[in-house]
This record gives sequence, C-alpha cells and structure tokens, in this order.
Amino acid sequence: MGEKWVLMKTAQTPTNIAVIKYWGKRDESLILPVNDSISVTLDPSHLCTTTTVAVSPAFHQDRMWLNGKEISLSGGRYQNCLRELRRRACEVEDKEKGIKIEKKDWEKLHLHIASYNNFPTAAGLASSAAGFACLVFALAKLMNVKEDDSQLSAIARQGSGSACRSLFGGFVKWIMGKEEDGSDSVAVQLVDEKHWDDLFIVIAVVSSRQKETSSTSGMRETVQTSLLLQHRAKEVVPKRTLQMEEAIKHRDFASFAQLTCADSNQFHAVCLDTSPPIFYMNDTSHKIISCVEKWNRSEGSPQVAYTFDAGPNAVLIARNRKAAAQLLQRLLFHFPPNSDSDLDSYVIGDKSILKDAG
Ligand code: DP6
Repeated sequence: MGEKWVLMKTAQTPTNIAVIKYWGKRDESLILPVNDSISVTLDPSHLCTTTTVAVSPAFHQDRMWLNGKEISLSGGRYQNCLRELRRRACEVEDKEKGIKIEKKDWEKLHLHIASYNNFPTAAGLASSAAGFACLVFALAKLMNVKEDDSQLSAIARQGSGSACRSLFGGFVKWIMGKEEDGSDSVAVQLVDEKHWDDLFIVIAVVSSRQKETSSTSGMRETVQTSLLLQHRAKEVVPKRTLQMEEAIKHRDFASFAQLTCADSNQFHAVCLDTSPPIFYMNDTSHKIISCVEKWNRSEGSPQVAYTFDAGPNAVLIARNRKAAAQLLQRLLFHFPPNSDSDLDSYVIGDKSILKDAG
C-alpha cells in the first residue's frame, strides 16, 4: 500500500424540525432522551450540510474543517461517533486505484473531514442535526459500514440527539428506547417525503444572534429542576406521539397543527419552569404566534402550524402553497424586512428573502 492515495466520499444531509420535541436526557454521554420525538426533514436544497470525508496514509491525525475553518475533534461527541464507526468499518477495495484497506487498517488510518452548511451560519439556523447526521453517513460510506440507517442513527445520536432524525426524509420518529446501552434508541421513518408533499415550510429568522443557553445545557438544567418536564415526558408526550402519528398518517392538518403548536408551547413552558428560567422566544416570536392563532381562528380551520426550537426563530408549516403565500403576505405586512420589526430574514420553501443580517 503506497503513501500517495486518497479515498473520498461526499454526502448531503438536510436538517429536521421537531413537531414533538426532544427535551431532556436520561443519559448524558450516550444521549438517551426522556421521551420519543417526531420531526419533519426539510428539503435538502435548503438548510443542509454537505460533508466530504477522506482517508489517506499520508494523513497524520484526524482533522475537521467546518465552513472552511478548522475545528477541534477532541470533544467526546466527535470521539464517540468516530470510535463507533471505526469499530464497524469493513474492508474496502478500489481495484482501479489499486487501493485495499483491511478492516484492521481503519484503527491506524487518519481521516480528514470538510463540512459546509448551505445557509448563512450567521442566520442563527446552524444546527448540529444535519452536521452530525452527514458526518456519520459520509464516514459510514467511506468505511463500508454495513449497518442500516436506523443503526447508523444510533451513532449519529451520540453526536447530537436531534441528528439521529436527519438520516431519513419525510416524517421521522426517534424512539427513546429502553436499553441502558442505547441500542434501541433509534430513528425510524414514519412516512417518506412524498406522503404529504403539499406542506410548505417558511422559516422566519427573528434573530441571527447565537442563543444564550445551548440546547445541551438548557435541557440539563430542565431535567434537574422542572417538575413539569416529568409530567410532560410521562403523561403528555406518549399520548401526543400516538395522536401525531395518526394525524400524519391521515394527512389531517387540523390535528397536526393543533398538536404541533401545543407541543412547541409546552416545550417553552418547560423552559420557563426551569430554574433559573430559560427564555428562548422573544416579543417578536410571541407576536408571530398571536398572528397565526388569530388567522387560524378567523379561517375556521388551521392554515398554518408554528413551532419554535431553542431560539426565537419561527418555523411555520403551511397546509399548502396557497396558505404559504398568504402567510408570507401577512408576515411581510406585520414584520416588513428593512424595518425595526426585528425579523432578519425569511427562508421560504425553495426561495430565500434575506435581509443583510450584518
Ligand atoms: C429544541 O439535539 O441540539 O431542537 O442532543 O444536546 O445535541 P443535544 O441537543 P439537540 O437538541 C435539540 C432540541 C430541540 C428539539 C428537537 O429538535 O427535538
């Protein structure tokens, strides 16, 4: 085996947005959640990560670049993913290039990883979900890992919980699992992207600033201090997850919207119930909620569902293209870009209207 060769693979993975939220871990190092969660995976043309991984005997250490800047791989989460993948790596042969990597070689060979997000990192939408899912998927291809996508999701989960759901398109459920080693805490696809393809997602970027409390530390504090979280995880989410699965299966937008909004609101209530309280939404987020609630009521049936993650940005899921167009008109009227409305940008379906986030 000469020193001159490089073997590469590239993968692209979209981010996902939870409609039943994951918030709280029962095991911090394996990243095992306190409840099931359900998400929708975005179209890969928006908010996705592209990762190229390379292996060569000429590399002397594992290295990674994110959007062109080198980052450290020393964190436990990266190390856990790399260890799990190396353990499962298989023989790789490229006859044309005269390359043969034996299973045992993967322990000694080093990797270079280059990852890019197709959305402005400054827009406050950077998500570890697409990043870790893409890293694990690309490395699994390079290393000829034979595991299926659900088993790979259990590795991506150890990078960032929400990442396990990005290995599938459509609607995806992360089953919390029961095993102590986390082997059954995996993601499964509920329906593929064609099942409910008239939904249209608009993301209103309320603030491009980095959140003050990361998801990881926020959920740790919630687990330690919130009684409401225990009620949510034991009583509310198990029932809500079943109802959500039914709503998705039957493309029942009224139930879907009611459950999505209720779950987002309960997640933020749980944040408020944390000591000290965590505020992820701001006044603009609250105004968007009021605007959507008012509109849905005036129409007699929901046109749009809203959901907010660990930050003030609104993810708005319209029942179809027409509702999305109307939603956009309303947003532009109430929160015109280039005003002090505090909305930095909109990311809309296959188009983006971006105000310079400065
Ligand atoms: C509010 O997956 O980012 O977006 O597992 O600590 O990396 P770690 O947390 P992360 O948390 C996501 C929380 C959420 C809800 C969700 O995506 O389900």
